[in-house]
Parts: sequence; C-alpha cells; structure tokens
Amino acid sequence: MSAATSATELEERAGALARRFAGVFGAEPDGVWCAPGRVNLIGEHTDYNNGFVLPFAIDRSALVAVRLRRPGQDPEADTDVVRLASTYAQTGLSRAEFSTGGLEPGLAAGWAAYPAGVVYALAQHAGASVPGFDLFLDSTVPVGAGLSSSHAVEVAVIVALNDLLGLGLDRPGMARLTQYAENEFVGAPTGIMDQSASLMGAEGGALFLDCRSLDSEIVPLPLAEYGLSVLVMDTRVEHSHSDGGYSARRQSCERGAAALGAESLREVPADADLSGLDHETQRRVRHILSENQRVLQVAQKLRDGAVDSIGELLTASHISLRDDFEVSCPELDLAVDAALAAGAMGARMTGGGFGGSAIALVRHDDEDAVRAGVLSAFADRGFREPALFTVLPADGAGHVQLTAPGRQ
Ligand code: GLA
Repeated sequence: MSAATSATELEERAGALARRFAGVFGAEPDGVWCAPGRVNLIGEHTDYNNGFVLPFAIDRSALVAVRLRRPGQDPEADTDVVRLASTYAQTGLSRAEFSTGGLEPGLAAGWAAYPAGVVYALAQHAGASVPGFDLFLDSTVPVGAGLSSSHAVEVAVIVALNDLLGLGLDRPGMARLTQYAENEFVGAPTGIMDQSASLMGAEGGALFLDCRSLDSEIVPLPLAEYGLSVLVMDTRVEHSHSDGGYSARRQSCERGAAALGAESLREVPADADLSGLDHETQRRVRHILSENQRVLQVAQKLRDGAVDSIGELLTASHISLRDDFEVSCPELDLAVDAALAAGAMGARMTGGGFGGSAIALVRHDDEDAVRAGVLSAFADRGFREPALFTVLPADGAGHVQLTAPGRQ
C-alpha cells in the first residue's frame, strides 16, 4: 500500500469516526488523533532490563475523536465525567463512563481502563487535572494479537489530551506516562517499548531505542525497495501480560542482575561469567545479554542498508526466546518453523509471547508459498487457523487532519 493511499484511508476513517461521534454525542469532536500498533523487529524482553529494542509502528492504528466539555455550553460542563463510546474489540457499539476526579485503579474496567489509566497517570505524574470529555474510539489493531492494541489506545488518548489541554509533553515523556497508566492503572507490569514505537515511529523506518536513556534513532527499513515484506502470523492464541508469566520473567531478570551485582542487566557485560547463577536464571540472563547484542547488530545492518541480511539474527532471537527465556508456545514455534521451511529469510515471535503473533521476513516472490506453508502446517497440527497479513513501518501518533467531507 502506498503512503498516499494509507494517508487517504486514514482521513476517511477519521471522517467516518467524527460523524459517528456527532451521532452519539450530539456535537462535533474537537479533533481526531491516531496512534499505531507496533511490531517488534527484534529486542524482546530487553526493555524492562534497560536494554535495546528495535520495533516499528505499523499501518494499523487506534483513532480517537475527542471533545472537551465547554463551560456554559454543555449541560454537564461543570462535571468531570468522561463519556466513552467504542467499537474496539467487539462488533457493536459499547459505552462506558468514569469521573476524572478521585480516579483510582479498579474504577474503570475493560477497554475503558486505557483512557482512564491515561487520565490517572496525567494527574499522578504530570500534575494535570483533566476536565470531562467525550471520546469515541475505533481501532484496526487486532486485539490480543501482541501488536500493542491497548498501548495504541493509550497513546491516542495522551496525544489528544496533550494537544487539547496544551500540556506541552514531549514524546519520551508521553511514553513514560502511558507506561505508568499501564503499570499502575491497568495492572500490567510492561516496559516502555510499545508506547515508544507508537509515539516515535516513522514511515519507512524502525525505532532503535535505548530503554535506559530513551535516546532514539530511526534506522531505515526500506522493505518494499528490497522486495521484502514483514508477514505477521497471528496465532490467535490470546495472551495477557497481567498474568504470571510476564512478571515472573521480570523477576528472574531482576534476581539475575542483583546476583551479578548490577543495577540492571544492561550493566552486565555480554561475556559475563554466569556460572554462579542457578540454571534457570542463567538461561534468562543469557537471553537478555545475547538479545541486546542482536539488536545492536540488526540496527547496524539497517544503517548499512543490508536489510536483506538480518534474517538469521531474527531467527536466532526466536530460538533464544524459545529455549532460554521460555516465552514461546507451540503455535508460535510452528509459525516460525513453517515460515522458514517455506522460504522465509528469518522469523521470530514478536511481543511478550505466550501467544500473540510471530513475524517472518519474506521476499515478495516467496510470500504466497510462505502463507500456504504456514496455513497447511497449522491445519495439519489441528491448530486454529492463524490470521496472516503484511505490515509496513508507519508514522507515529498524531493529529489527523479532517478533510471537508468528514466534517459534514
Ligand atoms: C510486551 C510489553 C513490552 C515488552 C514486550 C517484550 O509487549 O508491553 O514492554 O516487554 O512485551 O519485549
């Protein structure tokens, strides 16, 4: 899909959302904001170890239409009520409400926890008191696929509120605040990669991020120029980072760092002697140390214009996640193995694991064979049919200009 086509599509989606907003809330929104989901090219579970990651924002996004309450114009102008409407994660329209005053974790549930979490984080960590507002949410990021659908919602909300309330927050600052929303309000102990990709991604590039300093660089990822695609293989095995597996891995890493006398695994040299650690912690630490090296190598290859030589590093990352970090699952392993057997240049699970999606780097000429190989391998094993689709590196979050027809 060309950039021009996707920009037009985005404007059309935004126009349609603005019309639905007006239908539900009886007034035009102040604007529409967009935030993409992400695919992580490489650098898994390194973010909360202060390490390196290399994700990219994708051409699937959450959109929010928002209107702040206006004193004197709105019947509820003096209230702090937030009214939400959404077509997110279900086919029909779903509604929710919460008050911005006295917001505490647990006072908003389901998808409403994402906007509420952002309001909470703004109050707790940025001293911002958010007035009531109306919001309509729509998203094309598949939910539960490990492509950061929830972070996309949080990021869309924070960029909207940042603009509307003139908060003057910068992108790393907004990444940190949405991480607080996720950790403290939603209750998922996740790192900072997903929000950063959604906020700081750029069309045609991947975001090389140092999660300790939050310094970042866009490195070129010119897939189409090289005749390559990134194929997402959504296993449709639902995962949740509020469950035990993710936080158990975090704790292992913290234990490993402490035992090695380091503040975090970032400070541990790649060739450190791990023999004093128990076997499980050794494997966990080995994954993080080797993964950081792989991220640095892939980033350098991309700077050097050698995107067609990163495949082996992607596959090595998967093997390390499968065997050392143990966050894969049979469906993710099958997707990777079947894609490689059918001609993919490299493949790996992406995101936190335990389900969700894997990605494969595929030459355009081999794409049909890889798709067919993966589908038939899943059918043979009696697994649910995976969803297969390609993604392109897209721009990070921002305001969407509404074209004239969208405002009618
Ligand atoms: C999830 C989390 C991220 C990161 C990845 C694993 O996507 O939200 O912060 O830890 O898992 O790399």
